[in-house]
Amino acid sequence: MKMRPLLISPSILAADFSKLGEEVIAADRGGADWIHIDVMDGHFVPNISYGAPVMQCIRKCTAKLFDVHLMIAPADQYFAQFAAAGADLITVHAEAGPHLDRSLQAIRSLGKKVGVALNPATPVSVLEYVIDRLDLILIMTVNPGFGGQTFIQATLEKIRQAKALVNGRNIDIEVDGGITLETAPLAVKAGANVLVAGSSIFKGADYAANITALKLAATSLAV
Ligand code: DX5
Ligand code: ZN
Repeated sequence: MKMRPLLISPSILAADFSKLGEEVIAADRGGADWIHIDVMDGHFVPNISYGAPVMQCIRKCTAKLFDVHLMIAPADQYFAQFAAAGADLITVHAEAGPHLDRSLQAIRSLGKKVGVALNPATPVSVLEYVIDRLDLILIMTVNPGFGGQTFIQATLEKIRQAKALVNGRNIDIEVDGGITLETAPLAVKAGANVLVAGSSIFKGADYAANITALKLAATSLAV
């Protein structure tokens, strides 16, 4: 089976918000494939981050794909706002509402790529009947809400299950939370091809070196 390209999606949640535009530009120049944008509402998750107006401001800083991770409930009424503000891919949590199939159709109808995120406790089986509506499955490898948490090992089995469900379809498998030089290769070996990383990229001054190190670690798998 053809290998999907490995993509790095730096999470700007770990960036310095006082100079967010510069941080996005630095990540872009440093080799980011996508830009991961974590939207938190203080209700679905116990933290508040930023919304569509902030995202719209940084849209002019990069042409890279905006990978928008909505940790909000309800979510559906905000899809159009994020689409208009420059989202390319909109990922909704399966746990965010009772009508996942409808949510996915709503994102698609805005002409955006469609993603679903699963919290650590949510089984892959919830995707069984919506799999053909998806461009991406986001396996949360920590409980959403905060950067800098420890990777939950039990999620590796879920990545494998997601890969089996995808079964060669044109769907990316993304992992988010606690991705480091140690955990990235484990996630990729299990089947992930998009790595979200906040703390491990926006640390120190050399984001390019951090991105390169993550890519190298992720691809240096013993076959
Ligand atoms: C967590 C967010 C993540 C977070 C990852 O709720 O979805 O994207 O920024 O941060 P790190 O890479 O520091 O675990
Ligand atoms: Zn995220």
